[in-house]
Amino acid sequence: MSQTHRAVAIDGPAASGKSTVARRLAESLGLVMVNSGAMYRAVTWQILEEGIDPTDSAAVLEAMSRMKIDCGVEDGLSTISINGRLLTTEIRCAEVNDHVSKVASIPEVRERLVAMQRNYLEENDVVMEGRDIGSVVFPDTPFKLYISASEAVRAARRARDGEADAVAKRDAEDSQRKASPLKISDGSIVIDSSDLTIEGTVNAAREALMKLGWKD
Ligand code: DC
Repeated sequence: MSQTHRAVAIDGPAASGKSTVARRLAESLGLVMVNSGAMYRAVTWQILEEGIDPTDSAAVLEAMSRMKIDCGVEDGLSTISINGRLLTTEIRCAEVNDHVSKVASIPEVRERLVAMQRNYLEENDVVMEGRDIGSVVFPDTPFKLYISASEAVRAARRARDGEADAVAKRDAEDSQRKASPLKISDGSIVIDSSDLTIEGTVNAAREALMKLGWKD
């Protein structure tokens, strides 16, 4: 891990509020916000675009070996392009929601994307959100948060956003896989956002970071 740049790791299940918290912390602390889930989604989108079976690991890896993946930053937020195409809202579709956990369970897929995630720290202070950021991507950072919320609250949030996303199924797959499963990493402060407003969750996250020794 780079000695000069700092990483805030935020992990948690789908729709726990971690993206919103990460974005707001990035704005107020002047960090680059990196959405690592977007990388797994982008690879999954490209696999589906090429008509490849996302459950066929060998075919996924062969296709991935041909992908030119570019990670960048725009307006303080991470971006991802594959083969020159910037991927944004299309990676949030129901089909990607359905298949992304399978693709993310392949160790070699994770290896390539984790290396790209760590690269962000070479040039930026970052707040990165995902499933294995505190446990695998930046295990040495002292700034680890885990944002949770009850399953009912998370399903309701997705429905309110009009998204077809079986969060419980995705979380089960993400927590039970062998490679870097979702878990509360040692040293994390856990924030349950079930009964908190966005503002309340962001404030709790900021307080937790201060407790972990964050200095502006
Ligand atoms: O954060 P998200 O829901 O957009 O992530 C989409 C999927 O990507 C998630 O179901 C599991 C996978 N993922 C992962 O395995 N590791 C990460 N660090 C981030 C996401």
